[in-house]
Amino acid sequence: MSTLRLVALDDTVVFPGMPVTMQVETGEDQRVFLVPRQGTAYAKVGVVADVGDRVRVKGRRAVTLVPRYRAVAGQAVTDAAGVLRVDVEERPDVTPPPVATRDLEREYRAVVDEILDLRGDDGRIQSFVREITEPGALADTSGYSPDFNYSQKVQLLETFDVVERLTLALAFQRERLAELQVRQRIRDDMEDGAQKQQREYFLRRQMDAIRKELGDSDATAADDYRKKIADAGMPDAVRQQAERELGRLERLGDSNAEAGMIRTYLDWLLAVPWGKRSEERLDPVHARTVLDADHEGLDDVKKRITEYLAVRKLRAERGMSETKRSGVILTLIGPPGTGKTSIGESIARATGREFVRMSLGGVRDEAEIRGHRRTYIGALPGRLVRALRDAGTMNPVIMLDEVDKLGADWRGDPSAALLEVLDPAQNHGFRDHYLDVELDLSHVLFVATANVAESIPAPLFDRMEVIRFDGYTTREKVAIARGHLWPRQIERNGLRPEEVTVDDAVLRQVVSDYTREAGVRQLERELGTLLRKTATRIASAEQAPPIAVDAAAVREALGRPKVFHEAAIRTSVPGVATGLAVTGTGGDVLFVEAAAMPGKGGLVLTGQLGDVMKESARIALTYVNSHAGALGIEPGALDGREVHVHVPAGAIPKDGPSAGITIVTALASLLTGRPVKSTIGMTGEVTLQGRVLPIGGLKQKVLAAHAAGLTEVIVPDRNAPDLDDVPADVRDRMQFHVVTSVDEVLALALESNAIAAAA
Ligand SMILES: Nc1ncnc2c1ncn2[C@@H]1O[C@H](COP(=O)(O)OP(=O)(O)OP(=O)(O)O)[C@@H](O)[C@H]1O
Ligand SMILES: [Mg+2]
Repeated sequence: MSTLRLVALDDTVVFPGMPVTMQVETGEDQRVFLVPRQGTAYAKVGVVADVGDRVRVKGRRAVTLVPRYRAVAGQAVTDAAGVLRVDVEERPDVTPPPVATRDLEREYRAVVDEILDLRGDDGRIQSFVREITEPGALADTSGYSPDFNYSQKVQLLETFDVVERLTLALAFQRERLAELQVRQRIRDDMEDGAQKQQREYFLRRQMDAIRKELGDSDATAADDYRKKIADAGMPDAVRQQAERELGRLERLGDSNAEAGMIRTYLDWLLAVPWGKRSEERLDPVHARTVLDADHEGLDDVKKRITEYLAVRKLRAERGMSETKRSGVILTLIGPPGTGKTSIGESIARATGREFVRMSLGGVRDEAEIRGHRRTYIGALPGRLVRALRDAGTMNPVIMLDEVDKLGADWRGDPSAALLEVLDPAQNHGFRDHYLDVELDLSHVLFVATANVAESIPAPLFDRMEVIRFDGYTTREKVAIARGHLWPRQIERNGLRPEEVTVDDAVLRQVVSDYTREAGVRQLERELGTLLRKTATRIASAEQAPPIAVDAAAVREALGRPKVFHEAAIRTSVPGVATGLAVTGTGGDVLFVEAAAMPGKGGLVLTGQLGDVMKESARIALTYVNSHAGALGIEPGALDGREVHVHVPAGAIPKDGPSAGITIVTALASLLTGRPVKSTIGMTGEVTLQGRVLPIGGLKQKVLAAHAAGLTEVIVPDRNAPDLDDVPADVRDRMQFHVVTSVDEVLALALESNAIAAAA
């Protein structure tokens, strides 16, 4: 029995033979009594430990303690220095005879070995345990185990009997081993699972192969694709790409989200008519027959088209490859309703190709032409691929309708994509962004249409072979109505040809009193209305066929004439002149009105005039002012007066220099009081010196003048050769005045007698 300083170890249990270094106060003592403590509860048993070296751990004083044997606390006293000291009853192990512990020991070592194996011990702890020969000390090695909790360790500490202690330690270790083994098994199971999936995949592949070997009818979607790809007649590179994608589809399996996208892609790839071509017919004679059958007149246009086909035929026969210049695109330019689209269809029919129309109006995104890359959600191929799909052949006629309405913005310039498409040097390897394979477009016959040439992107225009549609004369319209529109409308309204008749005079009446257009769309509508009313009469038994449609019937069906020849009324007062213009809808007459009123002087312009037209008006005013004397204008006629020039219809923007002489004439008329002749129309640019410069679109302007009931036209002399383009029947009925200067214009246009101006 000895009295030792008591050292409490919070939440820590140390066993004999288990040296520790800790920060505890030991004073000058050689031996201390270590007792585990949790909260305020002390264990019943502690260990007597020798105090070893005093060391510094992390800058603080610590001491090494070497526990020797178990002991039990007796009486406690606090000494003079305030240190708690207890009487301890020492209880060293009493080693039992080996027979009592041999089996337990062996078993214990085996269990611990297995645990250490499972934990992946490198052998050091195993050899440490092997060196311990005393059964009590062996049981105490459990104290090292990180897996035992405080109370388990205290329980071991409080067990004095060695056999009992070893039995208890063995029980603890067995529990521990079982737990580790379960954990290991779970981990193994998880790994097994992954392997199983892999095995399943291989088995499935084998099953597919076997199924195919047996010719099983339950073919998979993949097999379906494989067959389609093999039959599609794709070029090698495309087929390889398709097969690559198909491989991916098979690996992913049907349920994968990406599989849907791959299927869509394969469907598009298969939608391209790779191997298919119409047998082309490049016979110019046959082509002309077809064109003639479908369209009245348009002789010039038809001639150009047959020539184009003849050249293609020769080049093809002589094996000449397409060059940048040879591959010009036929471009049909003209006002609405003049048959551009429908002649495109005829070209297809004449050459035995399919026809697809691709409207470019409002296309401002390159991706519309070329498609979106597949990385975009919902990506689709561009319009060309869709056009080929619709055509079902690789050599259709593709009509690029309304190229003048192409836009461009930050999404890219669609005309750049079109340029590539139309370039024979590049278009055999056109790449749609979505399909991302090369498409051969070199066999497509591209035909473009536009209403005006000016708004076609310049690089595109440069590559075009332009064929102009200038609009029809009244006589041509009557012929078109007779040969095409009338029969078509008869049929549409459920009538038979012999039931309704009409003569040319009546058709002419419809053309001139009810339509005002370069083309024949409105005419066809009016004829439709006329025949619908006739059909109603027949159906309701009001009248028995055959019916001859006469002027009265036209008036009844179509109402009062919609078109007036206003030139006579408009020009009856001084200050109004009749000009000729070309707009997107064809030629037209336009009236320039001038008025003068008290004011600061100067010029007011209205009617949405463009800059060029405004400048024309300034030039006109300056010219009139500076030639006032020669023109017979009273000196000072403009003093303190403001001149107002207006060009109706006010809502439509107008521009261009060709109204120059018309504005001069209107001003001169106003200031001299001489009205402008009501039968005269004019067009021409004017200079400050009074020279008349040439203008464009003469044919369309003359047709418009004729349609508006004018009989005389003043044209710049440099435009005289263009008069040859005017159809003979119109030319014969009109008088043309070729002029070089404004003087001549005014001499021709103004009435000789002044009348009192309204102003
Ligand atoms: N010379 C013609 N002979 C027979 N029919 C014609 C002729 N010109 C036009 N047509 C008919 O007029 C109608 C309108 O023609 P189309 O649609 O081809 O006009 P478009 O020039 O393409 O006009 P837009 O510029 O508005 O597209 C069609 O039904 C067409 O058959
Ligand atoms: Mg059209």
